[in-house]
Amino acid sequence: MLQSVEKTVGAPEGKTVSQWSGAPREQAVQRMFSAIAPSYDLNNSLLSFGLHHRWKRLTASYVPEVSGGRALDIGAGTGDLAILLDQRMGAQGQVTAMDLNFEMLKVGAQKIAARGLNARIQCLRGNAESLVFPNDSFEAVTAGFCIRNVGNRPKAFTEIYRVLKPGGRFVCLEFSRPVSALLRKAYDWYSFHMLPKIGQWVAKDHTDVYNYLPESIRTFPDQERLAAMLQQAGFSHVDYHNLSGGIVAIHIAVK
Ligand SMILES: C[S@@+](CC[C@H](N)C(=O)[O-])C[C@H]1O[C@@H](n2cnc3c(N)ncnc32)[C@H](O)[C@@H]1O
Repeated sequence: MLQSVEKTVGAPEGKTVSQWSGAPREQAVQRMFSAIAPSYDLNNSLLSFGLHHRWKRLTASYVPEVSGGRALDIGAGTGDLAILLDQRMGAQGQVTAMDLNFEMLKVGAQKIAARGLNARIQCLRGNAESLVFPNDSFEAVTAGFCIRNVGNRPKAFTEIYRVLKPGGRFVCLEFSRPVSALLRKAYDWYSFHMLPKIGQWVAKDHTDVYNYLPESIRTFPDQERLAAMLQQAGFSHVDYHNLSGGIVAIHIAVK
């Protein structure tokens, strides 16, 4: 199922990952995902109090139902969104679950196989910044908690725009900025104090990943700035919906 076997290499140490840029940052992020892949699903459920399932179902609900359609999930990781996309494209459809990280995708591929969806969901290793698909290939592209980790986001958005069919939708689920000041305060406390402790304990992980997570959320563009970036990439209509008070947001961008 997995179409590439090249493994992720390590990154230089000394600074927190958010302070790196370019290739070292990408390598460090990938090293972290490789380390946590086996415990990623468990941690996701614990740290979001199970809410990530609901957030993903809502994300998929913004993908049009196109019987026999083609959809791409970028940063597919352990495959949840790709599996939900399959239901939108139907039995004759084709979904591609793409991720830069072999270990995450390996867990995803097992989940997809366990559901008997091998023939309908193809797992592919690849980078959001340089998609291998021809122009106008997909009815829909999704990304769940991936774009935050991408080094060159404008490049990724231009690529996503290119591979979508005219009228196609990019649906992006990401952490965002809680709307109320009180929630922001509580959320900051949780993500900077509790989340790294629980995350590292569950993942038995000695890399920086659960410190990187809150840092990367804080430095990620808020709802309006992300919408503006999508418009700059050429999307004609961009809308967003806040979930859980703006802790996460779903952006919907139409080509
Ligand atoms: C937080 S996980 C999200 C996994 C899954 N979408 C979910 O919602 O549970 C982020 C994923 O994005 C992938 N990723 C990061 N940068 C990427 C890039 N430039 N291209 C493709 N995937 C990337 C990571 O390898 C990781 O598997």
